[in-house]
Amino acid sequence: MKHTIQKLRERKKEQKKFSVVAAYDATFTETLNQAGIEAILVGDSLGMVVQGQNSTVPVTMEHMIYHTEAVVRSNLCCDEQAVIIADMPFMSFDSVENTLQNAARLMRAGANMVKLEGGDWLAESVAKLAERGIPVCAHIGLTPQSVNKLGGYKVQGRTENQRQQLLDDATALDQAGADFLVLECIPTPLAKEITQATEFSTVGIGAGNGTDAQVLVCYDMLGLSNSPAKFVKNFLAESGGAHTPSILNAFAAYKQAVESGQYPAAEHEYS
Ligand code: KIV
Repeated sequence: MKHTIQKLRERKKEQKKFSVVAAYDATFTETLNQAGIEAILVGDSLGMVVQGQNSTVPVTMEHMIYHTEAVVRSNLCCDEQAVIIADMPFMSFDSVENTLQNAARLMRAGANMVKLEGGDWLAESVAKLAERGIPVCAHIGLTPQSVNKLGGYKVQGRTENQRQQLLDDATALDQAGADFLVLECIPTPLAKEITQATEFSTVGIGAGNGTDAQVLVCYDMLGLSNSPAKFVKNFLAESGGAHTPSILNAFAAYKQAVESGQYPAAEHEYS
């Protein structure tokens, strides 16, 4: 049975959480599908974890199309096909017209949904994409493409002004017709507030356990990051139980921990 955006959105009412993993190639896509992961994000984080860049800014549309095609080819051979979300890279959505053209390129590469970083200023583009049948995952909080403006990879939404702005951003993007919203590195109570105030499915990363879903980068959750963020858990380290640890078991353990609400735990949260 294929996973669909519609079925994942329905889970909000059922309070059944789903899991997303950022991955960029055919082999991980196959293993994630075997573990039952519901959605795969071809994230522009590939700039850092695959290409060795020090931010996501250098990633281009050509890079995103290449990796989206690799993931989609593998996904189509799986029984339970994950929903494929493709990231729109830095400056590929700087105007409504460019957003539509570049989103169309990612959809032609086989993505089921595109993701864009930014707040209420994106509402018009999101509405146009939705109108033209392109599902959207919005992304607020820590938006890595803006790292130079933000002055580093810092927790967002800690002041009252920032809290209100993120709440307004989420409301505007929800009303514009986005289907999912990534909430990155924000305090847990704010992520809960946004999740309760909106219709779309919120996907947290460093946003506590009150969101409708979680996302992690595949290499991070396998313990391959030298300086993991506070919210990262190494699922490979404890994936074995009575069995031999394996990457497949690690992905399955992540899915199970998200569904049961065990991940993220208090130690992974920002207050
Ligand atoms: O690019 C990416 O992988 C992301 C996730 C970390 C949310 O945007």
